Amino acid sequence: MSARTLTFEIFRFDPQLPGDSPRLERFELEETSGMTVFIALNRLREEQDRSLQFDFVCRAGICGSCAMVIDGKPTLACRTLTSTLSPKANRPVITLMPLPGFELIGDLSVNTGTFMRALSERLGAWLHPKAAAHSIHALETPMDPQLADSIYEADRCVECGCCVAGCATAQMRDTFVGAVGFNKVARFALDSRDAREPEDFYHVIGDEDGVFGCMTLLGCQDNCPKDLNHQAQIAYLRRKLMLGARIL
Ligand code: FES
Repeated sequence: MSARTLTFEIFRFDPQLPGDSPRLERFELEETSGMTVFIALNRLREEQDRSLQFDFVCRAGICGSCAMVIDGKPTLACRTLTSTLSPKANRPVITLMPLPGFELIGDLSVNTGTFMRALSERLGAWLHPKAAAHSIHALETPMDPQLADSIYEADRCVECGCCVAGCATAQMRDTFVGAVGFNKVARFALDSRDAREPEDFYHVIGDEDGVFGCMTLLGCQDNCPKDLNHQAQIAYLRRKLMLGARIL
């Protein structure tokens, strides 16, 4: 089978460049075996336009840097094979856009770092240890393996921002915590070493900017490249918070 010619329609705009305006630019590239969108973008930058901006670090779905909207779906460029995009078309047109809901740095590059840091500070997303944990002479308390697995599951989040980009509520209301924030809270709400009680978490996410603002549209779950079960986490947090506040 002969190689396909891929046409990329890529969002271009450099907010730092006076007079620049948002537009789509077309690029063509021969598809190669095992090509990912990340590989295609690198080739386009090396061979056709050195000013093309996009992010990557790990190339293995671990850092979350390469998230963008590919043919309308927020996902990771390094884990998206071009062969999966319009697989039956000989000359597919692939559209690449930056993630909405984040500050645009340029073209496909957005600033998720400032957003994630502010979210962590707002939610207190770090371990608040129980008093006994401060003693270096205290014996380490073993953790139940099932609990450790649950915490590990939440820790798989790479903070790529796809859940925020895919969430209609987060796009309409930038004060909404969103799935990545709920995941951070759930991780510490689960942790038996954390001193915080349900009431403490209630003060942080117990309103409509928190878990009670989720409209269950499932955008977070449908677009999570790590297949995290965000809706189960939201249900867990709602129940834990309501029990803590004695609403249930
Ligand atoms: S480059 Fe790290 S997740 Fe894609």
